[in-house]
Amino acid sequence: MGEYRAGLGWDVHRTSAERPLILGGVAIPGDVGLEGHSDADVLAHAITDALLGAASLGDIGMHFPDTDARWKGADSMKLLEHAVKLAREAGFEVVNVDSTVILERPKLKDYRRAMRESLAKCVGIELDRVSVKFKTAEKVGPVGEGRSAEAQAVVLVRML
Ligand code: C5P
Ligand code: MG
Repeated sequence: MGEYRAGLGWDVHRTSAERPLILGGVAIPGDVGLEGHSDADVLAHAITDALLGAASLGDIGMHFPDTDARWKGADSMKLLEHAVKLAREAGFEVVNVDSTVILERPKLKDYRRAMRESLAKCVGIELDRVSVKFKTAEKVGPVGEGRSAEAQAVVLVRML
């Protein structure tokens, strides 16, 4: 049996009424969006960092710096797709993804299936290997006050 490795990812973005809310490549309608140099897909960023971590390949800022014109305004799912490719080149395949988005509002549960499908397609694994969970911050702290959103992820990889 091949060796398994786990990686941990976390990200945060400020909320903004002027920006879209994109999570796992899915646009969520409403008046809450996220600020950022990219599309601010906080979930895709956390999963990308978890995957890079599992493969000991550094972090998202190292591979996709804001200063690199190649990735400017890039769809974050493209960055995740690229990280999957880097991990594969390093000899790893993704076993599963678990994640949590912490956002006070809007309610996200109706979009869970769409996010899981979008992430599974991007990572190249079956739907039942991708989990996306949601939490509020109980009105406490910057997330609870609606000023930011966070995401956490764990990715397990197996050596090819
Ligand atoms: O954070 P809390 O425990 O109150 O979340 C209760 C439920 O609401 C969770 O099951 C979660 O899936 C859902 N939720 C959601 N959208 C959010 C936060 C929580 O759908 N932004
Ligand atoms: Mg980010």
